[in-house]
Amino acid sequence: CGIVGYIGEQNALPILIDGLKRLEYRGYDSAGVAVIAEGETWVEKSAGRLSELEARIAGHPAAGRVGIGHTRWATHGRPSDMNAHPHTDASGRFAVVHNGIIENYAQLREELQRQGHVFRSETDTEVIPHLIAAHYAGDIVEAVRRVVPLLRGAFALAVVCQQEPEKIVAVKAASPLVIGLGEGETLLASDIPALLPYTRQVIVMEEGWLAVLTREGVSISTVEGKPVLPRITHVDWDPGQAERGGYAHFMLKEIHEQPRAMRDTLSGRLDPAGGRVLLHEVGLTPDEVKALSKVAIVACGTAANAGLVGKYLIERLAQIPVEWDLASEYRYREPMIDERTLFVAVSQSGETADTLAAMREARSRGARILAVTNVVGSTVAREADWVLYTWAGPEIAVASTKAYTTQLVALTLLAIWLGQHNGRIDPAEARALVDALRRLPDQADRVLALEEAVKAAGEELARHNDAFFIGRNLDYAVAMEGQLKLKEISYIHAEAYAAGELKHGTLALITDGVPVVALNTQPDLVEKTISNIQETRARGAFVLGLAQEGDEETPRYCDRIFYLPRTHRYLMPALAVLPLQLLAYYAATARGTDVDKPRNLAKSVTVE
Ligand code: G6P
Repeated sequence: CGIVGYIGEQNALPILIDGLKRLEYRGYDSAGVAVIAEGETWVEKSAGRLSELEARIAGHPAAGRVGIGHTRWATHGRPSDMNAHPHTDASGRFAVVHNGIIENYAQLREELQRQGHVFRSETDTEVIPHLIAAHYAGDIVEAVRRVVPLLRGAFALAVVCQQEPEKIVAVKAASPLVIGLGEGETLLASDIPALLPYTRQVIVMEEGWLAVLTREGVSISTVEGKPVLPRITHVDWDPGQAERGGYAHFMLKEIHEQPRAMRDTLSGRLDPAGGRVLLHEVGLTPDEVKALSKVAIVACGTAANAGLVGKYLIERLAQIPVEWDLASEYRYREPMIDERTLFVAVSQSGETADTLAAMREARSRGARILAVTNVVGSTVAREADWVLYTWAGPEIAVASTKAYTTQLVALTLLAIWLGQHNGRIDPAEARALVDALRRLPDQADRVLALEEAVKAAGEELARHNDAFFIGRNLDYAVAMEGQLKLKEISYIHAEAYAAGELKHGTLALITDGVPVVALNTQPDLVEKTISNIQETRARGAFVLGLAQEGDEETPRYCDRIFYLPRTHRYLMPALAVLPLQLLAYYAATARGTDVDKPRNLAKSVTVE
C-alpha cells in the first residue's frame, strides 16, 4: 500500500492523486484522500481502482493546499469504501493514513469504545485518529508523540489536523517513508517514485523518526522529541526510468531490461585479470569463511526461488551445507543456527515483513547476516551486516523478473567467492564460470530474441486451465519460478514438479492435451529427464521443451522446443527462466489479465 502527502502553494488534490498513481504498482484494493479546505477536513475514498476515486472527486473537488492520500491493501477488514483510508475521528478533525499493522488495535479499540468512541470501519488504523482526538490539547505534534508509544506493530503514518492546517505530521516505525523537499512545498510518500516529478531532494526517514512538514520544509526529531539532523539525498533516477518506455506493460519492459540488469550486477565484481570474483562489500575473512558450518538462505516468493538456485550453487562450489527456507516458515521451526552460520536474506524490496522477521530471528541466534537486495537503504539492507546489492533498477511490475535474474547472478558470485575464500572451488572451474558470467548478458539477449515463438506458445497455453513444469536439479529450481510466473499473471493453475517425483503423485493429472513445460538444460541429467518427459507424453501431454543448443535428443520427445545458448550448466537458470517469463506474459495478455497488477497480489508485502 502507498502513502502520499502534500503541503505547499498548489492545489493539493491533483498532486495527491498523481502521487498515488505513481505508487499503484505496489498493488492496492482501495484508495482515498483527505484535504483541509476552508477550515474543513474533506475526505473522499473508494474501493477499487484510483479511477473510481477520481470519478467521485470530479463532482466536488476541494481546493486545499494541504492533504494526504493512501492506497490500501487490506489486512484488517475487507476492501471497502469505509475501510479505505484516510480514517478520521468522530468529529472529523483529524485524518490519518497508515501503512502496516497495529497489533494491539483490538485492545485499544475496546478501551476507546468504553470511553464512548464510535467506530465506523473494521480497520486497525481507525484507532489512531480516535487516540489522537483523545490526546489532543491544542498541539497536534504533541498529541502524536503521546499516541505513538501506545501503538504496537510496524507502521508508517501521516496525520493532518483541521485546527493546524499549516502542517502534516508523519511517523516512521518499520514501514518505509520518504520526505521530498520542493520549492515552497514539501511532500511525503511511502516510496520515491511518487516524489520524482516534484523534487529530487529527499530524506529517507529512519526508525522512530517523527517529521513535521510545512511549506518551508521539514523538521525531524525522534518520537521522544530528540532533534535529528537528517541527511538529504539527491535522487538521480530518471522519471522515465520509472515509466513503461515503449512497452505495453512494465513487466515486458523489465523482461527486456534483464541483459542490462545482469551486466550492472556483474560490474566491478569480476577481476579483470580473470578467474576471480571480487565482493568487497562482504566482510568475511578467508578464515571466517573456512569456519562456517552452514549457510541459511531465507526469502519469499520469487526471491525464495532464486535462493533455491543459490543453495545448489553454494553447496557445489563452496562445499558448505546450505539450508533453504521460506521466510514465513523459518522462525517457527526453531532453526538450529549459531555464529558459524552465514544467513543470507534475499529480497528485491528489502521490506518484506516475513524476510525481516526471519532475519531478526537469525540475528538473535548469533548468525552473521548478508542481505541480497535491490533497494538501497531498505530495512533488510540496514539491518544486515553486509549487503550484496542487485542492480536491477526499480522493478514496478508485481511479477518479478529482472530482480530474479540479478539475484541469480549475485548468488552465483557469492558461491564462487565463498569457494575462493575457503579454497574449496577448483580454480579452473572458477575461471570457466567467470568467463561464462561475462558472456551471460549477451546470451540473455539472444534468448529474448525467441520472443515471437514463445508468444505463439503462450497464446496456446492461454486456452488451458492447468500446466505442469518439470525438471531435475537446477531445472527444478527454475521450474518453481516458471510456474509461479504463470500463476501470478495468467491465473492458470500451474505446478512445478521435480521430474522424477511426478510418477509418485501428479502423473494422475496428466491427460490428453495437458501442457507440460519440460526443462532439460543440465547435461548430466538429459537422459533421466527424457524418461520423465516420455512418462507424460505417454499420457497425452503436450510438451514444451527447453534444451541447450546441440542437444539433439530432447526435441524428439517434445511438441515444441526452445533452444538456449550453451553456457556453464550452473548459469543455465538465468537463461532458462527468460522464455518462461515470456510464456507467462503472453499467456496472460492472451487472457486479457491486468499483467502489471495481478489481482490480490502486492509488489511488496510489509505484513507478516
Ligand atoms: C511479494 C511479491 C513477489 C516477491 C515477494 C518477495 O509477494 O509479489 O513478487 O517475490 O513479495 O518480495 P521481496 O521484495 O522480498 O523480494
